[in-house]
Amino acid sequence: MKILLTGVTGMLGRQVYKTFKNQKNIVLGIARNRKNLELGNDIVIGDLTDKQFVKNIAISFNPDVVIHTAANVNVNSCDVDKKYTHLLNSESAGLLAKSCRDATFVYISTDAVYDGKIGNYDENSLTNPLNYYAISKLNGEKLVTDATNKAYIMRLNIYGFHNPTGQSLFEWAINNLRDGKEIVGFKNVFFNPLYTNQVAHIIEKTIIDQVPFGTYHLGADSYISKYDFLIKIAERFNLDKSLIDGVNVNNNSMGVVRAMNTTIKNNKIKLFLPDTDFSIETGIDTLYKDFLSGNI
Ligand SMILES: NC(=O)c1ccc[n+]([C@@H]2O[C@H](COP(=O)([O-])OP(=O)(O)OC[C@H]3O[C@@H](n4cnc5c(N)ncnc54)[C@H](OP(=O)(O)O)[C@@H]3O)[C@@H](O)[C@H]2O)c1
Repeated sequence: MKILLTGVTGMLGRQVYKTFKNQKNIVLGIARNRKNLELGNDIVIGDLTDKQFVKNIAISFNPDVVIHTAANVNVNSCDVDKKYTHLLNSESAGLLAKSCRDATFVYISTDAVYDGKIGNYDENSLTNPLNYYAISKLNGEKLVTDATNKAYIMRLNIYGFHNPTGQSLFEWAINNLRDGKEIVGFKNVFFNPLYTNQVAHIIEKTIIDQVPFGTYHLGADSYISKYDFLIKIAERFNLDKSLIDGVNVNNNSMGVVRAMNTTIKNNKIKLFLPDTDFSIETGIDTLYKDFLSGNI
């Protein structure tokens, strides 16, 4: 397969690259810079907000599959620069899907399309994004499904790490805990995230097994608070969990308003991938091994 992968230098994109890069596939990644990654000729440098660049790459590479992970994921900056966020998170997705209409299109969305008032959402639950990041991702979903009927819309939450190290929840926690610094964990914010490596393998299986196109929730089997998630991380990495202070927050006390309970049911995807492991424990265990071995 010829796979066009946006966001190849990102937390998820890097794992997707690692998973798909084998003798059967040609993977071409897009990013704005190489970030010290050894991707050789597998990366093309360009900005997805440049429409001509998107059209040119679609024509010249002519992919069988597009995996679109690139986005501005910084919720605060999305709220500040809505115009740019719309261009990147929504329009570029739609244009890419339109320009690669014959390809299978994987659009990585977010559990934040729900308002988090009740949790335990299924794919038919009413969406009601609370901030501009979430609005832009939902708009991206719509533009993609308008442009192609060969799309997988994957709503999810993830944890993982960057290379070089970034600012994700896990990276923030581990860096502070290793330095013996106290951190806070939200006891009343709930999610069911997957490790990026789990997501990459689910995407691969979805494509290979020709799961019907549509919207899917990629969530872990169990629901967990952000506080309990950090405790699990501290335990697995043998760090001092007493440094984690559990607090309750309001959804508007975190700067930009955020959803409190974005837990998503994974029954639909599991129907098609019954042998796949969606557990948080496996995810954290794999993360532990990858992180210590510098495996991505
Ligand atoms: N992280 C989360 O907790 C989370 C939760 C739910 C859903 N998601 C979704 O999962 C996906 C992956 O997130 P992530 O955490 O892996 O993101 P990330 O680590 O921030 O990576 C974003 C990627 O997008 C690329 N990118 C950004 N702006 C670009 C532009 N203008 N043109 C071309 N490439 C650009 C970045 O490349 P550069 O190296 O050039 O910056 C980077 O490779 C996103 O679609 C996000 O909405 C993430």
